[in-house]
Amino acid sequence: MPRPEGNMSRIQPQVDRRAFVRGIAAVGGAVLTSAALGSCDRADEAHHHVLPVEPELAAGGGNGNVSRVRLRIPPTVAPSGVTLSAAPAGVGILPGKTTTAWTYNGLLPGPTFSARRGDRVSISYINGLAEPSITHWHGLLPDHANDGHPQQAVAPGGSYAYDFTIDQRAALNWYHPHPHMLTGGQVYRGLAGGFIVRDDVDTGSVGNPLGLPVGAYEVPLIIRDASFDSSGNFQFSNKSSGFFGNMSLVNGTANPYLNVDRAVYRFRVLNGCNARIWRLALSPAAPLIVIGNDGGLLDQSYPLSEISLGPGERLDLLIDFRSLAASATVMLRCLDAGWDLLQFVGSGINVLGAGLPTSLPSIVPLAAPVVTRRFTFDGMTRLNGKVYDINAVEFQVPLGQVERWVFVTNGNGPHPVHVHGATFQVQKRTGGRGRVFDWERGWKDTVVVNDRETVEVLIRFVAHTGLYVIHCHQLGHEDGGMMANFEVV
Ligand code: C2O
Ligand code: CU
Ligand code: CU
Repeated sequence: MPRPEGNMSRIQPQVDRRAFVRGIAAVGGAVLTSAALGSCDRADEAHHHVLPVEPELAAGGGNGNVSRVRLRIPPTVAPSGVTLSAAPAGVGILPGKTTTAWTYNGLLPGPTFSARRGDRVSISYINGLAEPSITHWHGLLPDHANDGHPQQAVAPGGSYAYDFTIDQRAALNWYHPHPHMLTGGQVYRGLAGGFIVRDDVDTGSVGNPLGLPVGAYEVPLIIRDASFDSSGNFQFSNKSSGFFGNMSLVNGTANPYLNVDRAVYRFRVLNGCNARIWRLALSPAAPLIVIGNDGGLLDQSYPLSEISLGPGERLDLLIDFRSLAASATVMLRCLDAGWDLLQFVGSGINVLGAGLPTSLPSIVPLAAPVVTRRFTFDGMTRLNGKVYDINAVEFQVPLGQVERWVFVTNGNGPHPVHVHGATFQVQKRTGGRGRVFDWERGWKDTVVVNDRETVEVLIRFVAHTGLYVIHCHQLGHEDGGMMANFEVV
């Protein structure tokens, strides 16, 4: 909920700020094994997703009069032999009210799929909505038939069988509807979920080579905004200028808190908003340690005081709570909205767990592009001057070829530009903010282009030939037509 800044000063005296910051400054050194962490489970949290909201004051509350509820953690499911059903369901979001949401398998957010590189994905999707839909696996790189292209939308009552093998870097991806002109409303009403890919570098089939936090110390955070009417149902209008809700939800939880031990936590963060860009920071100030983003791990970690995250973008973040005293609180905030997103409450429990990684795997830079393509994001509905034609093929890209793609806008930004079928490396941003930020390094599939900015990326399609799309992930723009088909040949 929007709250005046004044509340922040009220919680600060409760936090041992110097100890917290000192803990973060003392990073480095040996990476501890996480054997102790592996035995922890989050069974006690897993069932919270369907229960009505029971407001309770967070231990060590102190945050004004806001009544906080425990952060929901969606159940984790292997994406093999499962049914994924998109349908309306009643969920508890606001105290004492039932929200009729559009859900995957009755959950908001949907279950978190978790699979390893090499695993086969077999999901039977059922459209239980009253309008066409299809599910796209944002960040996964399957062939066209499994990509959830708008051409594949199925009518109400229809179904779609997905079957593909995962062959890409470990990363947090996500899934959401992708029907022509209807994506914004469907995502907004609740259809979204995380899809974590793991590999031997990231978490290992045996052991944990980088010593990253696991089990209860690895937490997905799908952060989005929403507005509700007095009966607790979603308010929405699918305007091209973008829908902005008046409050935030984390994993479908309003005003959440999370009890944290004295340990390093790994947060897998997704901006699930239709249009809003989060500007994330901790209060009291402490580093958000970025170790990865859309396409997986970066080649080093970056401790940052704030990070901006556009719709569809992801972050792999460590936060060091090893010095957080019992009952002390730290708030994850959005500096632009001025909102408190998630309150961390110290348990005071010492854990012999993960440290901060001393090194991360290297990334081979793309180089020597053989062609340059220019994409203009015009008005609120056009890409390269055209409104999306679901049947047109606007250009062809040879498989395996490194290309320079240049994203230009003539206003109406920000445009979070997203490409299906490949990941890219951001080279430069000119105009506007005039730089590439640390959280935009490595491999990306979505990059924010603000007004007056030009962003250059290098991209190479290596996975499959076939029809894919490039589009703006501001869902009002996407549904308005800021999208284009292209074919990898
Ligand atoms: Cu997250 Cu084409 O979408
Ligand atoms: Cu996508
Ligand atoms: Cu846009």
